[in-house]
Amino acid sequence: MASRLPITSPTLPLPTRNSFLPIRIRVRGGVRSSFTFPPLVGVSNAPSAAASAGGRSIGRRRRMVVTATSTEVPKSKRYPGEAKGFVEEMRFVAMKLHTRDQAKEGEKDPEAGSQPVARWEPTIEGYLRFLVDSKLVYDTLDAIVEEAAYPYYAEFRNTGLERSEQLAKDLQWFKEQGHTIPEPSSPGVSYAHYLKELSKKDPQAFICHFYNIYFAHTAGGRMIGKKVAETILNKKELEFYKWDGDLSQLLQNVRDKINQVANSWSREEKNHCLEETEKSFKYSGEILRLILS
Ligand code: HEM
Repeated sequence: MASRLPITSPTLPLPTRNSFLPIRIRVRGGVRSSFTFPPLVGVSNAPSAAASAGGRSIGRRRRMVVTATSTEVPKSKRYPGEAKGFVEEMRFVAMKLHTRDQAKEGEKDPEAGSQPVARWEPTIEGYLRFLVDSKLVYDTLDAIVEEAAYPYYAEFRNTGLERSEQLAKDLQWFKEQGHTIPEPSSPGVSYAHYLKELSKKDPQAFICHFYNIYFAHTAGGRMIGKKVAETILNKKELEFYKWDGDLSQLLQNVRDKINQVANSWSREEKNHCLEETEKSFKYSGEILRLILS
């Protein structure tokens, strides 16, 4: 990749480490590093007069010249979604990690043997495992923002998106129907542990999980809930899928807060946050799959 070539003869200030950071995600065909933030406009390894003048002593080695155009890229076009705020950047990365049958913006290859939600055959036992592990994750998020290892986590208390109480009511309902509520299983326990550790040492990565967990649930999560309810719950709508007040306003309030927090992050910190999206999908995907277990 261009940014890894040796830069031997710069004619203009070099890009800093923050300027060109590849965002690596795995998309269709298993290809990594499908896009680079920002696009590497203006970086070339073609010879130029300035390079050959300034670089004679280096001999015939290949040189990379950084030209003035790298500073001319309009800021609003450099990172997908950037003009609308950082949450839009997070959304852009998340949407690409969906498969095409999950969401129309999705680009990821479906995993071998996986089925589109429309063909899922959930079981009550599997769904209960999913709800129990989800509750553990939401309880953990509540505890993390309550403790606020970084003071700005406190901004994310009482957003109205919390799901713990609702899940407790749903589990109680299942119990009253005669079902046994299982203990949390490995996907939920591992994710809760990971989030706790991450929140203490890596706030940018933690905010990535916070965003993806809450926003995924209001989008694909709701779709899945509806499908499960139709298939095995006689269409009963669980509390997990109900919010007090106007959900789109609650989501917007959280978007505004994340955008505000991310305003103080360097480009490198923002990219670090975006790169965590893949892990968020991995952990949440494992919990989702419990529905089919
Ligand atoms: C079977 C699994 C999934 C399905 C069917 C699904 C489906 C969807 C759909 C239909 C949307 C809305 C797209 C739109 O706005 O046009 C969406 C949005 C989104 N999904 Fe997923 N998704 C799944 C799993 C996940 C996972 C595992 C994550 C990450 C933990 C995730 C994160 C997101 C995010 C962040 C959004 C954007 C929400 C927003 O802008 O409000 N999704 N998903």
